[in-house]
Amino acid sequence: MNQLKSFASDNNSPVHSKVMRAIMEVNKGDAIAYGDDIHTLEAERRFREVFGKDTSVFFMLTGTGANVAALAHITRPYHSIICSDKSHLENDECAAPEKSTGCKIVRIPSNDGKIKKEQIEPLLGSRGFQHHSQPRVISISQSTELGTVYTPEEIRDIARFANENDLYLHMDGARLANAAAGLNCTLAETSKFSGVDVLSFGGTKNGALFAEALVFFNQDLAREFEYTRKQSMQLLSKMRYVSAQFNALFYEDLWLDNARHSNNMASLLAEKLGEIENVRITQKVEANAVFAILPEKAIEMLQRQYFFYIWDRERNEVRWMTSFNTTEQDIDDFVAAIRRSVEDSD
Ligand SMILES: Cc1ncc(COP(=O)(O)O)c(C=O)c1O
Repeated sequence: MNQLKSFASDNNSPVHSKVMRAIMEVNKGDAIAYGDDIHTLEAERRFREVFGKDTSVFFMLTGTGANVAALAHITRPYHSIICSDKSHLENDECAAPEKSTGCKIVRIPSNDGKIKKEQIEPLLGSRGFQHHSQPRVISISQSTELGTVYTPEEIRDIARFANENDLYLHMDGARLANAAAGLNCTLAETSKFSGVDVLSFGGTKNGALFAEALVFFNQDLAREFEYTRKQSMQLLSKMRYVSAQFNALFYEDLWLDNARHSNNMASLLAEKLGEIENVRITQKVEANAVFAILPEKAIEMLQRQYFFYIWDRERNEVRWMTSFNTTEQDIDDFVAAIRRSVEDSD
């Protein structure tokens, strides 16, 4: 099978060479298992450097694992978890959050992947009524599944509301790096300093092989999480290989270079698409995703040359994602292919 160039997801990109090298470098001799090795201590130190000293970090293997373990740890089965109807949590985790937490997932309709406190407020009517699940956690994604980004003010608004109403704020930061790069702010400003209690922080989409972390800013919530991680089957014995990846991403801000480049490629794609008739961009391009509507026949033709997902079949809306390894030439070639497909579909 021919390997098609992918604009489907940053999950399809390779591992950054500096991350791969870091993995090779720690591949020497023995190291104490389960996180008691020097590379893990170093990675934990780097997380505290980035997010501040009141930070507890636990390394994990998958983003779904981080989300699910976080939610399982901070809820009881009679609680509910509030999130956007576009969230990965709701749509792409095979109901693992429901299975592992027992909680009801309450979806808030959203056109751009974001939710607002005004939409959450009416859901609190069930509070204290023993026949209803009890709202406990708000989960937001940064950047969102639609490539949009919450501003720190928007997050603070939700965090304040959560705080006033005895709710926790969880952030799915599988692409926090892209959000911070897009906002031109630090990772902490768009999470901890905006009032997030617990963050699923992603390295995999930012050039790692498999490196995710659960980061607690609310220290009360972090208590005994090591047991939840183990029960969630996310405790890796050869932890040094995950830690090495984070050390590489934080070294000289490789994470930021990767995220900036990825975002710039999405902006370039969006800019060039503006010159093509019959292609309409449907979401703000604030991170590394471009959503667009184009003729059905053009999508079919394009999919013979490139791998990407149709987001909404009824609307002929597609999702194109860029990554740290997308080049300007890739964008030029892709835009030329889109132009040809759209013209030929007439
Ligand atoms: C927003 C978001 N959260 C979480 C994940 C989960 O990652 P994983 O596939 O590692 O479980 C993804 C994966 O694409 C994602 O896009």
